[in-house]
Amino acid sequence: MDLKEKILKKEAIVGIIGLGYVGLPLAIAIGESGFKVIGIDVDKNKVNKVNKGESYLEDVKSEDIKNLLKKGLLKAYYTYEKIKECDIINIAVPTPFTTNKDPDISYIIESGKEISKRMRKGQLIILRSTTYPETTEKVLKPILDESGLKIGKDYFLSFAPERVDPGNKIWTIKNTPIVVGGITEKCTYLTKIFYEKVVDKVFIVSSPRVAEMAKLLENIFRSVNIALVNELALLCERMGNINVWEVIAAASTKPFGFMPFYPGPGIGGHCILVDPYYLSWKAREYDFHLNFIELAAETNEYMPFFVVNKLFDILGQNKIKIKESEILILGAAFKRNVSDTRNSPAIKIISLLEGKVKKIYYNDPYVPILEVNNKKYYSVKLSKTLLKKVDCVLIVTDHSIYDYDWLLKNAKLIFDTRNAIKKKDKKVYLLGCNI
Ligand SMILES: NC(=O)c1ccc[n+]([C@@H]2O[C@H](COP(=O)([O-])OP(=O)(O)OC[C@H]3O[C@@H](n4cnc5c(N)ncnc54)[C@H](O)[C@@H]3O)[C@@H](O)[C@H]2O)c1
Repeated sequence: MDLKEKILKKEAIVGIIGLGYVGLPLAIAIGESGFKVIGIDVDKNKVNKVNKGESYLEDVKSEDIKNLLKKGLLKAYYTYEKIKECDIINIAVPTPFTTNKDPDISYIIESGKEISKRMRKGQLIILRSTTYPETTEKVLKPILDESGLKIGKDYFLSFAPERVDPGNKIWTIKNTPIVVGGITEKCTYLTKIFYEKVVDKVFIVSSPRVAEMAKLLENIFRSVNIALVNELALLCERMGNINVWEVIAAASTKPFGFMPFYPGPGIGGHCILVDPYYLSWKAREYDFHLNFIELAAETNEYMPFFVVNKLFDILGQNKIKIKESEILILGAAFKRNVSDTRNSPAIKIISLLEGKVKKIYYNDPYVPILEVNNKKYYSVKLSKTLLKKVDCVLIVTDHSIYDYDWLLKNAKLIFDTRNAIKKKDKKVYLLGCNI
């Protein structure tokens, strides 16, 4: 049976490399659509959990993993030995940046080499990790070519960016369209017919580099618009007589041509903060400087610094000495209702507060332990006693689970960087508003 027939009959075996925020939900979606899935991750802990039917992500139910295990549609491994059995291989490994904010695509390279050593004829490889344009063609393809197999004839390669939005209950893997760009027409075609079995809609582009650039555009669009409202928030702080949240609410009533974005203590995660740097790094190869995009990144990265300065101002206005202050950070994840702390503004804020205030506590129901500068912090239990003890509560992440009325009633002072309290009170200070 050739690959096309195997896909159409759902008899193709699908490998997922990297069982993280992208890979695990993807494995579930592909398994639930009827394909047999082989998960591969270098993290033994994740592999063991998958094989025991235990989820480690809020968006994935243990029950869903167990169902697939029971049907024999899912099994995880921490070596690449099973690659030979896979007809389709999705790569969903991390693409972070280095300390100096250059792209780090070493995980793609590593994974490509492991696949290349074990490739056989008739396999389709799909890169799902976000990366700069031409990674698929100029980095991954040469590594896979080392297998001796010929692209478009012996093996197939595409880029299909992942769009999963952890915590989003409306837009799931199934109802979010997938963009696909293959190296050859057959690469694109096979990827298209495969994903049509898993998701509602597949959108074809002419090459992997268009798909790579499209993914960066999606995330940079958010980065730039968040920077715009962050800048507006800073202006409102300076003017002192306008509340930026009221401005955004008013502008949002326009039914066309406007989309609300909100200011905050900084952006984090594995995408919106990282991706502008991937593109600006690539642009420099062409003597092109993405000033606009970099300015947006700079504005967003300034926000945790601004928040700490404003916190110190608030303490001063309330006659609390910074050195003697005890601060409770509410929310450590980089966004609402998830446990992901990668590049979280809470980490930056804690590291800026370290050594300056007397004591830092944090609470996050999704994050029991947080590591900042090699020091471990443990989420404290929220109680009236704790709120009486701390001088100021700093809301960094507005998880829905928090009871903001209770907080308002019991805290001595609140600095709300997310407009979570939504009530005017003299003990509440709001980011983007100095009224
Ligand atoms: N998290 C998101 O919301 C999101 C959304 C869209 C796209 N993306 C992109 O998807 C990619 C993956 O992101 P993620 O959030 O799932 O990362 P993650 O860190 O949650 O998961 C990646 C997994 O890959 C594993 N891994 C690392 N090297 C490996 C190797 N050589 N072989 C096998 N496994 C390996 C890690 O152990 C980890 O479990 C990134 O490029 C990211 O930018 C992420």
